[in-house]
Formats: sequence, C-alpha cells, structure tokens
Amino acid sequence: MKEAIMELARKKNAIILAHNYQPPEIQDIADLCGDSLELSIRAAETDADIIVFCGVHFMAETASILCPEKTVLLPCPDAGCPMADMVDTAALTARKKALGDIPVVTYVNSSAAVKAVSDICCTSANVIQVVNALKADAVLMTPDRNLAQYAAGHTHKKIHLWEGYCPFHNNLTQADVDAARQAHPDALFMAHPECPPEILAMADTIQSTSGMIQYAGSSPLSQFILGTENGLLYPISKANPDKEFFPASPKMVCPDMKKINLSDVKHSLETQAGEVRVPEPTRKKALGAVQKMIDLA
Ligand code: 13P
Ligand code: SF4
Repeated sequence: MKEAIMELARKKNAIILAHNYQPPEIQDIADLCGDSLELSIRAAETDADIIVFCGVHFMAETASILCPEKTVLLPCPDAGCPMADMVDTAALTARKKALGDIPVVTYVNSSAAVKAVSDICCTSANVIQVVNALKADAVLMTPDRNLAQYAAGHTHKKIHLWEGYCPFHNNLTQADVDAARQAHPDALFMAHPECPPEILAMADTIQSTSGMIQYAGSSPLSQFILGTENGLLYPISKANPDKEFFPASPKMVCPDMKKINLSDVKHSLETQAGEVRVPEPTRKKALGAVQKMIDLA
C-alpha cells in the first residue's frame, strides 16, 4: 500500500505533507514531516500540482491560502482542530473593536475566515518573534490563551487573551509531570507552549514539535519527557535512535490527528476526494496574515 501510494503521488506530481502527530504509517510515506510552520513554508515553495495534507483542516486551508493554483487534499475531511473552533469572525471582530482596533495575532490553528480578519499569523515555533516584530504596544492574541500567556512572558507588549485552548495540552497536570519525572529522574522535560502556564513553569525547555526533535538531537542528555501530543514519540525517536523518550501523560492523544489512514490517502489521490479550497475573497484577505508570518520566518 505504501509503495502504491508513493508511486501514485509521483505519477500525479503530488507532494505528501504530514504533521509530526500523524500515525507512523502516514509519516513513513510523507515527503516532509514537520511542525505547522515548516509545513506551511514547504507548501508555499513546492512546485507539485497536488498537495496531500495529512494533518487537520486548518493546515490544509493554510496550504490552499498560500497555493490557490494547486489542488489541496485533506484525505479525511472531518479531521479538525477543536481549538480552531473556539473563535469565530463575529466574536473576534467585536472584541477587536472593543479594544480599539489593536493588531490581532492569530495562531495558525484557526479557520481561514478568522485569519482573514487578523493582522498576522503565528505558530508555536515563531510566536515570540511575531509578537515582538509588531510596532503596536498592545495586541490581541487568538485563539490559544496558553500560547498568548507564554508570549506575554517574553515581550514588553500588553497581550490581550482569547479564552481558547487545546483540550489535550491544556489537560496536562502538574501531578502528571511529577509522576513522569519520578519515573524518569534523569530525563529533561520539554513542553509545548499550548500547555498551561503552571506546566510551562516546570519545563526545562518550551518548543514547537519540530523544535523538540531538534533540541533532543543537539542535547548531550539521552532521556526526555514529552509534554505534547503523543504522536511526536514516533518522529522524535526515529530522528534520535540512541535516545529515549517518554510521554508526560498517556492521555495526550488528539483523535483528529489519528483519523487519516493509508486507504484514505490512496482514495484521495485517486479521486481528489477531500479537496480543500478557500473561497477567493476570504483567501485574499487571509493571505496577508499568513504571508507576513512566512516573510518573518
Ligand atoms: P506545532 O506547530 O508545534 O507542530 O503544533 C501544532 C499543533 O497543533 C499542536 O497541537
Ligand atoms: Fe488542535 Fe490540540 Fe489537536 Fe493540535 S493537538 S490539532 S491544537 S486539538
């Protein structure tokens, strides 16, 4: 099945992009596995005709925003991100107005429509750089309140929060981290900035998913506890075969990130099922926010 898919992708001039949380068999057939920022940059640069995006809906939408001339496929169309659904354009526009039209920094984990009413996007890999690059003294960050609080600790700007969160990162508790540290006393604890502030305060380092892979690779240590979705265990172990990785909690599983299987990818490539196309007026407005972020990177 894997070989058949890769052959089909070659014939159709398709590129397969997979997020670091995807199931191992999906990561194995991908041309690139990465975090949200790396995948957006690759989507923007590719000369393939078709982008098969193995991730969740906002990631495929971001690829469509950047590449309107390409066919973007999400092999399982109902793979979404609950955090992205915690903000909508009406509520965001009203809040922005109430705050005196300050710039809106929107996490890529958001719909294209929300990006279209935002000033700039960010990911977990570049949030501090993006916030500090803005001229304004105050910004509204949406939808992730934990990412916003993390950024607030690394800037002199006033950060207004939106009350969104990732249900899986937000559920990691201090007791979970204590238990993992007791079980692995020599391990370094890495946390994703979607974790709550009390967890980030316990972390030895705070990183995006690919940031964790790179950090482990250049660290002299050999054991790591991962404060992120457990799909990362596969690519981080593959990239660092001589090191050991442990989940901070077995509960950290995002079901939407596990929806795509090999049959879905094959079917999507054969039939173009799961095409994601952002309507042109929304796309044009959203492109401004996404492109500003990519230009900074
Ligand atoms: P990264 O951009 O760090 O890979 O994170 C994406 C995500 O959805 C985290 O839950
Ligand atoms: Fe969204 Fe959380 Fe799943 Fe990432 S892990 S896609 S933020 S629900």
